[in-house]
Amino acid sequence: MASTSTFPLAVRRLADKVALITGGASGIGAHAAKHFAKHGAKVMIADVQDELGKTVSNNIGASLASYIHCDVTNEENVKNAVDVTVAQYGKLDIMYNNAGILFPLNPNILDIKQSEFKQVIEVNLIGSFLCTKHASRVMIPAEKGSIITTASISSITGGVAPILMLAQSMAL
Ligand SMILES: NC(=O)c1ccc[n+]([C@@H]2O[C@H](COP(=O)([O-])OP(=O)(O)OC[C@H]3O[C@@H](n4cnc5c(N)ncnc54)[C@H](O)[C@@H]3O)[C@@H](O)[C@H]2O)c1
Repeated sequence: MASTSTFPLAVRRLADKVALITGGASGIGAHAAKHFAKHGAKVMIADVQDELGKTVSNNIGASLASYIHCDVTNEENVKNAVDVTVAQYGKLDIMYNNAGILFPLNPNILDIKQSEFKQVIEVNLIGSFLCTKHASRVMIPAEKGSIITTASISSITGGVAPILMLAQSMAL
C-alpha cells in the first residue's frame, strides 16, 4: 500500500524529475527514494535485494516509483537499468550512485582475503564508474542531468575501525 504522499507543489524541489537510485532497497538509498518522491520525482530503485526493493517501491506507490534488479558491478545490468528508466519515464535527470558495501566489522587485516577487498572495489568504485558512464550516455545528448555519488568520511580521514583487531593484536 502506498504510504508516501508528495509535498505541496510550492515546496516540491524535484517536480517532474526522474531519478535512478542504486542501493535504493535499504538504508540511505531507500530514504533518498522516499524523499525524492515526496519532492515530486519519479524514482527507479535499483538494487540486488529484490524483495526489499519492491517493498520500498510499493510503499512509495506505483505512480512515483519502480524497482529494477541491478548489480552495479555488471555493466549489462547498469546499461539496462538506465535504458529501462528512460523507456519508462522518458528521461534521466538524476543518477544517484549509492550502492555500496563495507568490510565485516572489525576484521583482522591478516584475515581479509584479496577477493573480499576486490569486491569492495568492484561495488563501491567500479559500480559508481559504470553508473556514471551509462547515465552520461543519456545525459550528454540531453545536455542536462545531475550525478551524485555517496562517499564516506573515511575517504578523507583515518579511524580505528574496521582494522581495530589489527591494532588490538599489535598491542598484545
Ligand atoms: N551508513 C553509513 O554510516 C555510511 C558511511 C559512509 C558511507 N556510506 C555509504 O553509503 C551508501 C549507503 O549505505 P547504507 O548505510 O545505506 O548501507 P545499506 O547496506 O543499508 O545500503 C546499501 C545498499 O546497496 C545495495 N548493494 C550492495 N551491493 C550492490 C550491488 N552490487 N549492486 C546494487 N546494489 C548493491 C545493498 O543491497 C543495499 O540495499 C554505501 O555506498 C555506503 O558505503 C554509508
